[in-house]
Amino acid sequence: MAELRSLVAERRAAGATVALVPTMGALHDGHLALVRRARELADVVIVSIFVNPLQFGPGEDLDRYPRTLDADLAALDGLGVTAVFAPSVSEMYPDGPSSTRVVAGGVGSLYEGASRPGHFDGMLTVVAKLFHISRADVACFGQKDAQQVFLVERMVRDLDVPIAIDVVPTVREADGLALSSRNRFLSADDRRAALALSEALAAAAEAAPQGLAEVLAEADAAFGAHEVQPDYLVVVDPATFLPVESDASGDAIVLVAARVGATRLIDNARITLG
Ligand code: PAF
Repeated sequence: MAELRSLVAERRAAGATVALVPTMGALHDGHLALVRRARELADVVIVSIFVNPLQFGPGEDLDRYPRTLDADLAALDGLGVTAVFAPSVSEMYPDGPSSTRVVAGGVGSLYEGASRPGHFDGMLTVVAKLFHISRADVACFGQKDAQQVFLVERMVRDLDVPIAIDVVPTVREADGLALSSRNRFLSADDRRAALALSEALAAAAEAAPQGLAEVLAEADAAFGAHEVQPDYLVVVDPATFLPVESDASGDAIVLVAARVGATRLIDNARITLG
């Protein structure tokens, strides 16, 4: 951490701008798209790789979360990354889990937060620490984690954090599955069933001109066709992240989550309700 801090201090003193790409490793093309974007935005690019225990609840997949540092470093090779920051848990939390936390507020306990209590407080706490450690001017996040993006943007606004948030579109497989570090856990059958999420979003987008009820019915049918039970399927207002009214029109975001085999997947898409 000291080494990163002095590198940043030196480069900032020389007038360089700094971009941060926060990750938990197990890098895939979605992460690499964030790195390429960061490279366009700033002179210095820092990629953090840290599986943050604070954002995993009891019984979640902290222990089995993939840790692939060597492969991650190889994937970043040649992308113009200035520094990779891969701290240990004790370096990030020297006194044990921090007793000071960022609280995600009401939206933090909905959707992902309802299924994973405390997840967003833990996520925002580590993101705030990474912002301070890196002193970045800009941080890049993937649209795939739409609720995370909303909460990070809100934290930055609410706490006057001097950083810009850049949101990069979701990268997908050719058949529509959103890239995720957890996809590696899908068996061949799970992999087919996982298409329920992206197909539900495509059905929602097609039904959007007919309004909310049709969107929910069509998306639900797409889940049914794969015999996958959605954990949540909800249409939210991008400005508040609260569910839209039944007669809503205009821009909205469809959020979906489901457990496929033993793996929990999430996805989302922007739609325009008619
Ligand atoms: O999106 C992730 O990988 C994590 O939530 C993040 C932002 C790196 C914080 O641990």
